[in-house]
Amino acid sequence: MAVERTLSIIKPDATERNITGKIIDKLESAGLRVVAQKRVRWSQAEAEAFYGVHRERPFFNDLVAFMTSGPIVMQVLEGENAVATNREVMGATNPADAAAGTIRKEYAVNIEANSVHGSDSAENAAAEISMCFADSELVG
Ligand code: CMP
Repeated sequence: MAVERTLSIIKPDATERNITGKIIDKLESAGLRVVAQKRVRWSQAEAEAFYGVHRERPFFNDLVAFMTSGPIVMQVLEGENAVATNREVMGATNPADAAAGTIRKEYAVNIEANSVHGSDSAENAAAEISMCFADSELVG
């Protein structure tokens, strides 16, 4: 299996509860390595651009409001099969459906405040990484 990279975001519900370290521990324990990381607060325009694919969904405005409600931690994770590994560790989008031991089962509040985002394909990972980081910020 190839080494690949994926984009991970720790969402405002998790930064607010001061549990970013607990979440990163789960990711690292699964064999993923943080090769880029920054804590930022998104503007409305940045959140709308990042989640542009969901623009027509009924939850879009609430999602943008939530993602701009506090700081987030953006990170690039690297490892074998990183996209799938990250999604496995995150668990299902809705914490009610998430498997035991996953980040969302343990920490998510609800389907919106679900603590983490992770790219859903290698193609989207590349696009999301380039939206959030300059090449020079991928430091290994
Ligand atoms: P994320 O992986 O960040 O991608 C889009 C986000 O929209 C998703 O996680 C959820 O937090 C949020 N969301 C809110 N409501 C819904 C919904 N009904 N279905 C899917 N995603 C939702």
